[in-house]
Amino acid sequence: MIAVTGASGQLGRLVIEQLLAKTEPSQLVALVRTPEKVADLQQKGVVVRAADYAQPDTLLPALQGVKKLLLISSSEVGQRSAQHVNVINAAKQAGVELLAYTSLLHADTSPLPLRFEHLDTEKAIKESGLPAVILRNGWYTENYAGAAPSAFEHGAVFGCAGEGKIASAARADYAAAAAVVLLSADQAGRVYELAGDESYTLKDFADEIAKQSGKAVEYKNLTQSEYFDLLKNGGLPEPIAAMLSESDNGAAQGGLFDDSKQLSQLIGRPTTLLTEVLKGFLL
Ligand SMILES: NC(=O)c1ccc[n+]([C@@H]2O[C@H](COP(=O)([O-])OP(=O)(O)OC[C@H]3O[C@@H](n4cnc5c(N)ncnc54)[C@H](OP(=O)(O)O)[C@@H]3O)[C@@H](O)[C@H]2O)c1
Repeated sequence: MIAVTGASGQLGRLVIEQLLAKTEPSQLVALVRTPEKVADLQQKGVVVRAADYAQPDTLLPALQGVKKLLLISSSEVGQRSAQHVNVINAAKQAGVELLAYTSLLHADTSPLPLRFEHLDTEKAIKESGLPAVILRNGWYTENYAGAAPSAFEHGAVFGCAGEGKIASAARADYAAAAAVVLLSADQAGRVYELAGDESYTLKDFADEIAKQSGKAVEYKNLTQSEYFDLLKNGGLPEPIAAMLSESDNGAAQGGLFDDSKQLSQLIGRPTTLLTEVLKGFLL
């Protein structure tokens, strides 16, 4: 059986969708904190099991009979290293034969502080001796595209990414890659650097919103602390404002750029264009 953690999340759902196209539902296990959230998957015949990264007791029973496991990184930033170790230990005990983990693009050299929890996890996976494949995912295009309606309203995109080029891809592209890896042989030991085929600066992003909406939208580049204040004063919790402003600052240093095209090679098609993703947010 193939199991996917975080199956109630946006990426997890897309991975299950991709797997369902090529696998019997009874061979898929959706691991979630709250089974009711994925009642629709259960109705399709997917096996649903409760598994909380923070509650080790839930993990071993949830992994019984699982041969391949996709560990989607937790969304609880700051607690992830310990949470992921719980999953890795349970996977080892359950005899999982391939662990795939969604890490961060260039986690070993990235200027984004987010890398540290991913590196901890990559190290823990290595030390566990489990056969594993690392999917170092770049930025989701949806992260920026989600801000497009507000940019349209204010006539401005704000950020601190300077001239940094962002090679993002749609969540669905990363999900497709995870599904390919889970369904392919000989993946153990591989590390994929996954990013979009095209890259853009935040000025290009603002220009694209202007083009699609017909309204003038400019990019206003701020310092990291100005951007942090803007996000915080706009109502975001401080840790999220810090994470976003630090990540934008990392993007300014090239942290979200990659031109290896490993993602499109893996999924056998070009990655989804910014133009396409934006349409879904501006329509
Ligand atoms: N590459 C990027 O641009 C980017 C952007 C954002 C996030 N990420 C990372 O990629 C992951 C997947 O992205 P996404 O868009 O699918 O995020 P998402 O929609 O927020 O989903 C996060 C998933 O993690 C689960 N989760 C959180 N804490 C858990 C715990 N203690 N035990 C079990 N499950 C737990 C959530 O379960 P519940 O439904 O129970 O909450 C949810 O299913 C995120 O969690 C984050 O680590 C990457």
